[in-house]
Amino acid sequence: MRGNLRELIDDVGQEELDKLIDALAAEAKRPMPAGQDGPKIAEEVLTLFEDFTCTDCHRFHGQGETSAPDLTGYGSRAWLVGIITDPTQPRFYGKQNDGMPSYRMFPDKPEKNLLGEAEIELVARWIVGELPVAKRTAAARELKAD
Ligand code: HEC
Repeated sequence: MRGNLRELIDDVGQEELDKLIDALAAEAKRPMPAGQDGPKIAEEVLTLFEDFTCTDCHRFHGQGETSAPDLTGYGSRAWLVGIITDPTQPRFYGKQNDGMPSYRMFPDKPEKNLLGEAEIELVARWIVGELPVAKRTAAARELKAD
């Protein structure tokens, strides 16, 4: 693997880096599948992730290694729900997780979880900006009241 991103940008090109960043941003809007492998995605986009060596560590739409978080659906509501629910899942930080709590590690034992499914869903919707301001305020009050 080549060392630093600056060298990679010089090799691959600034324009390609912009495309890579756009592709990553687009993930937030793509529905994330339940399984680890994502929907089919343009070869060109996959090639970008390979050219910049991201897939040396990250999985992306079924390509690449798994030592770093899976970037399929990165930033989407489903991705956020997944990582808040349990960052120790292999597709997120796995055993390397150091500090982020698993807020809903026991789907079958609600009393053992720090947050419920609906609460996590709400937090994720809030983060991705799906809740209008008035609803956010109401939701925050509701969470506080619990
Ligand atoms: C040498 C391995 C490696 C390479 C190469 C690499 N990453 Fe990562 N990346 C990681 C690890 C490991 C993490 C998790 C945070 C940590 O442990 O430092 C991470 C975290 C991330 C995150 C944040 C994930 C989160 O939890 O929110 C993003 C986004 C990301 N990388 C994108 C990229 C992109 C895009 C590239 C290519 C330009 C890339 N990475 C290249 C190892 C790598």
